[in-house]
Amino acid sequence: MAVQPGNILEIDALSVTYRVRGKTVRAMNAASLTVRDGEAVGLVGESGSGKSTLARVSLGLIPRKIARIESGRILIAGRDATRFSETEWESLRGDPVAMVFQDPLTYLNPVMRVGPQIAESVRRHTPELPLDQRVEELLELVKLPSVVTRAYPHELSGGMRQRALLAVALGCRPRLLIADEPTTALDVTTQAEILALLKDLRRRLGMAMLLISHDLGIVASACERIYVMYAGHTIEWGGAGAVFQTPAHPYTVGLLRAAHAVRNAEGRFATIAGDPPNLAELPPGCPFVPRCSHALAECSRDMPERFDARSGDPHSVRCWLYEKPGLGFDRAGTG
Ligand SMILES: Nc1ncnc2c1ncn2[C@@H]1O[C@H](COP(=O)(O)OP(=O)(O)O)[C@@H](O)[C@H]1O
Ligand SMILES: [Mg+2]
Repeated sequence: MAVQPGNILEIDALSVTYRVRGKTVRAMNAASLTVRDGEAVGLVGESGSGKSTLARVSLGLIPRKIARIESGRILIAGRDATRFSETEWESLRGDPVAMVFQDPLTYLNPVMRVGPQIAESVRRHTPELPLDQRVEELLELVKLPSVVTRAYPHELSGGMRQRALLAVALGCRPRLLIADEPTTALDVTTQAEILALLKDLRRRLGMAMLLISHDLGIVASACERIYVMYAGHTIEWGGAGAVFQTPAHPYTVGLLRAAHAVRNAEGRFATIAGDPPNLAELPPGCPFVPRCSHALAECSRDMPERFDARSGDPHSVRCWLYEKPGLGFDRAGTG
């Protein structure tokens, strides 16, 4: 009997806070997200919405002195990792879960040539393989010329550094690659190249990917499913087509409009009106209320429950507007 692919990552109603100058910053608020084996999942939201916190907590990388998991669970390949010690996390990093970041320079060793850094990750995770050959293969995989092995990170362009960091991550043979804004620091052409490379790698290696970006277009083009995060809540998720073509949450509608908008009269790009919420002073109810033109009385009282699309692609939203019958959504559990 074929083995059913499982969930490589499951974030279940997870709340994370940071203690900063006597204040409690609520960076994740009962957020949930699942990545199945082999699946490409996108996570979008404005800066400060908690995306990187979700990525880091999935690898045990939140700063223990100031960060705290308040409630909820993290499961990695079915194992509950919520209360893992540093040593236990260490055993999961790279394999089965590896990560690449927006700023590869921070994560590459500046005084070590690129080749040995890739070799190091191969040696730790697949010591049985011939080292030089494997490094060559990895460079080929990320489409870097072999001369790069002798270069130092600072000698490479931004795009090449991101490829080098990818080679280090892939040297671990991850089942899941988390890519946190991997193209944000790059020019548009290089961005497109790295994105194409990520899509190609995922297909060839059959690994799962969690692609994080503030750009809904980027994740929609590369992912099968999308989650939208606002103020630490996962507020909408579903098939990429459903979320991108028929966004349900007023925030997602705004994100898309901002992405599509040409420059307005003042020559500025359209953004969603109003300011992102202060995570140290979140009001009760939906955090989007102050910026939402559709807000109802109940929106300020309680965070909305989950409503699921009645038909078509899987699509869920946390917004009281969808309590109204006739919009094609049903309260979760009653459909
Ligand atoms: N190391 C940290 N110390 C204190 N606060 C942090 C830290 N990392 C993130 N935060 C806070 O948590 C919130 C979410 O940040 P982050 O997860 O980086 O969001 P995003 O990646 O979506 O921009 C922000 O208010 C941010 O200031
Ligand atoms: Mg971030």
